[in-house]
Amino acid sequence: LGRIVVAVDGTSGSGKSSTCRGVAERLGLRYLDTGAMFRAVTWWMLEHDVDVHDADAVSARVDHLVLASGTDPRDPTIEVDGQDVSVQIRTDEVTRSVSPVSTVPAVRARLLDLQRQIIAPPGQPSGGIVVEGRDIGSVVWPQAEVKVYVTADPAARAARRAREEGGSDVGATERVLRERDRIDSGRATAPLVQADGAVHLDTTSYTLDEVVSLLVGLVEQTL
Ligand code: C5P
Repeated sequence: LGRIVVAVDGTSGSGKSSTCRGVAERLGLRYLDTGAMFRAVTWWMLEHDVDVHDADAVSARVDHLVLASGTDPRDPTIEVDGQDVSVQIRTDEVTRSVSPVSTVPAVRARLLDLQRQIIAPPGQPSGGIVVEGRDIGSVVWPQAEVKVYVTADPAARAARRAREEGGSDVGATERVLRERDRIDSGRATAPLVQADGAVHLDTTSYTLDEVVSLLVGLVEQTL
């Protein structure tokens, strides 16, 4: 179990993060939120007035930033150039801009490298980690022992998200989620897909605890 890789991909707002953290805690595994890495790059571009829709400008700058991801599921952190930006990467502005930035091949190449180093640190035992994103089972770590593809009905996702955000507009939230899914699924490089061998889990009618238990069961069954 200590060396296993659990790859969890799926649509935006389907409850992946809470689920993956819960699973990692229950099984004593590390946790990597690759979405946070794309958000951190996006935050940096916005901070430095780089036009997030200008792929050339984004490509030219992406190698200049230093990223560090903490992998404790109880307290996952993300740092850019030594600054903890865990809170800053959750703003509406970053959420709206992250999918365009994530289509840029140079951004994906840079983060792919970092993600693989975290999954298998040089000189240390590899694995023992739950990794969530859009392309983990398809591109980042196709050899993962367990692969899950998580989806949920868009209206249910938006309602959940709006509730978490303390009553923000459900309609607007659903539009942003759908737009991110559209861009993430339609891009040329590493689009969101159900990876070969991935188990599809539709979480629409399950509670968080139920989804965590389902996934823990799935991991234990694989061993
Ligand atoms: O998971 P989260 O919603 O925080 O991800 C933010 C965005 O980062 C996604 O909408 C997607 O554009 C991008 N992403 C990606 N590949 C990943 C993880 C996230 O393209 N592996």
